[in-house]
Amino acid sequence: MQKTTMAFDPSSQSFTLGVIGSGAMGSGIAQLAAQGGLNVRLFDSNQAALNKAMASLRATFDKLIERGKIDAQKAKDTLARIVTVNSLAALTKGADLIVEAIVENLDAKRALFAEIEALVGDDVVLATNTSSLSVTAIAAHLKHPGRFAGWHFFNPVPLMRVVEIVDGQRTQDAVAQALMALTERLGHTAVRAKDTPGFIVNHAGRGYGTEALRIVGEGICAFADVDRVMREACDFRLGPFELMDLTGLDVSHPVMESIYRQYYDEPRFRPSVIASQRYAAGLFGRKSGEGFYDYRAGAPTSKEAPQGGTLPQSVWISQRDPSAFAAVRDAIGSKCALLAEPGNADLCIVTPLGSDTTDAVVRENLDAHRTIAIDTLMPLARRRTIMTNPATTKDTRLSALALFSADGVAVTAIHDSLGFISQRILAMIVNIAADIAQQRIASPRDIDRAVQLGLNYPHGPLAFGDLLGAKRIHAILAAIHEASGDPRYRPSLWLARRARLGLSLLSEEG
Ligand code: NAI
Repeated sequence: MQKTTMAFDPSSQSFTLGVIGSGAMGSGIAQLAAQGGLNVRLFDSNQAALNKAMASLRATFDKLIERGKIDAQKAKDTLARIVTVNSLAALTKGADLIVEAIVENLDAKRALFAEIEALVGDDVVLATNTSSLSVTAIAAHLKHPGRFAGWHFFNPVPLMRVVEIVDGQRTQDAVAQALMALTERLGHTAVRAKDTPGFIVNHAGRGYGTEALRIVGEGICAFADVDRVMREACDFRLGPFELMDLTGLDVSHPVMESIYRQYYDEPRFRPSVIASQRYAAGLFGRKSGEGFYDYRAGAPTSKEAPQGGTLPQSVWISQRDPSAFAAVRDAIGSKCALLAEPGNADLCIVTPLGSDTTDAVVRENLDAHRTIAIDTLMPLARRRTIMTNPATTKDTRLSALALFSADGVAVTAIHDSLGFISQRILAMIVNIAADIAQQRIASPRDIDRAVQLGLNYPHGPLAFGDLLGAKRIHAILAAIHEASGDPRYRPSLWLARRARLGLSLLSEEG
């Protein structure tokens, strides 16, 4: 039986936090803690790094004063609460909590905590800011692993307002709860996760980039098409390829590979050869000047092909899905005649969910040359996606482009795909989040809060699923799974059960 740690009092007025490592993360944590009224001791094995961190903290506070965010006296008092020390003995003396943000290396972290444990009393809580190592593994050789937890901040710490509190196998509940309360005291949102690869945010984030890479890998469209659809039709701040260029493929690709391997080759996280080739070529994104976009001449511009073509005189719209039919009919308005039968229509329009245009042509017995599909998962107001089949003629594609862009809305034309662009990517995001809930890694509410704050998605993934309809998301995945035979698309049981019972994806069992 391990010793029960009396976790610190998170509301203590004389709280002292020891921070080890003064890189971006350590100094960010020090700043946030000092602004929250804690006394901070900051240590780094490299004195030059420590001096640099203090200079940059002073510059940060000068900027905050300039912008009127803080007054000079308050800035001075806050900075005075961050004291640099030159030994672990000085750092640990009287500290209530010690967090490390040193190099991401298991042996280095284990060696550091062994040293710290020899210097502190049994009731001092120890935490790691690791983003990719196992919290349990770091704590494995401690005398009192119950006092140890993950305290995972995001970069830049003061602005990224979510923190994952990670329970290792032996973390005591009181320790995790005290860290949750302290995080909230500092004004950030605390979410709690079991120690699993990627915790919540880096686990939930696997869907966006990998599915986008698959779409491009299947030759369905160009990178920029995926980005435009996700930004304009689905409201994401950055398209998946823009995001990979911002983070850098030197970071994103190894994370994709590492999470995939750590989950024993889970197909949902399968990385892409496109990314591995570009990684090998050093096309990292903004930092290397070239990524999916070219930054060498400043901000990249991506031009869309002109959308000319003649309007069709008559169209027929599939009525298999009545709400999709109504949305397409409204988007077309009175621009051409709407026929009740497909036989004589210049253009036949289908609205598949999770299946492709080819499948709709065969099922609905249509002329493939005159048939295209339109994605109706998201509203048709800002950007529309139309999809051909291998037999669609060029004239049909151009007339569909002319028709759907006639009211000034942008249109993306793609090759045949199981679930267009948006259906595949959104369903993948919802499914992965649902499975995080199914595995009880975190509560549904924490999953949504963590993803919204940590990844800036327009909605939490489970709420997004509810908004689009759990049944529809399930139908998309089931259709892709059936047609492709790829276990990557198998619906999570969390999603399947809630879709069948008509429950919210955020609902927990009583
Ligand atoms: P960094 O490399 O900028 O800073 C690490 C600092 O730790 C350096 O100043 C180094 O001199 C010092 N250091 C290394 N070994 C030490 C030791 N044994 N004792 C004392 N100081 C030591 O790293 P960064 O980016 O600040 O990240 C630190 C930690 O935070 C890593 O574990 C990383 O995985 C985690 N993290 C990083 C994020 C990021 O976006 N950079 C996000 C979330 C977590």
